[in-house]
Amino acid sequence: MKLQIKLVRLNGVLWTMQKSETILIQSSTDVVLVRQAVRQFAVEIGFGLVDQTKIVTAASELARNTLDYGGGGTAKLETLLEGRRRGLRLTFEDQGPGILDIELALKDGFTTGSGLGMGLGGAKRLASEFEIQSVVGEGTRVTIVRWK
Ligand SMILES: Nc1ncnc2c1ncn2[C@@H]1O[C@H](COP(=O)(O)OP(=O)(O)OP(=O)(O)O)[C@@H](O)[C@H]1O
Ligand SMILES: [Mg+2]
Repeated sequence: MKLQIKLVRLNGVLWTMQKSETILIQSSTDVVLVRQAVRQFAVEIGFGLVDQTKIVTAASELARNTLDYGGGGTAKLETLLEGRRRGLRLTFEDQGPGILDIELALKDGFTTGSGLGMGLGGAKRLASEFEIQSVVGEGTRVTIVRWK
């Protein structure tokens, strides 16, 4: 686990602490650790219980996919500050087989595993911003942002 703390100067007056943490995902235990860390970041940002649950649920689905389909990887958690707006950005990365058809993978009910095929689409709906990059044979990166 890597934790970085950056001090950001805002309008030349205020110093705000911006945090970033990277967690290795190699087992189901790590998926739990990701959930806990995301919850902690969300609380620190000041997310209410509903927003906390939304981002934790999305993170859980994406961490699961990283483990199950990507063969493991990393989750990077970053607090964001844009003007007065605060947010949480999560980046899930793996060097797995990649996704052949991203549009299809996003459709509810599509799965190549034994799941319900709801994870990716669900995570997209729970996030304010959603981005997926995947190259067959190279890996997958999914980034979500939720603003407060
Ligand atoms: N990181 C990844 N690497 C490779 N393929 C992936 C990755 N994430 C998702 N996929 C592909 O996209 C499909 C859809 O993912 P999604 O999370 O929506 O459903 P699922 O994991 O199959 O089921 P559920 O999440 O509902 O348990 C997966 O079945 C898999 O084929
Ligand atoms: Mg899934």
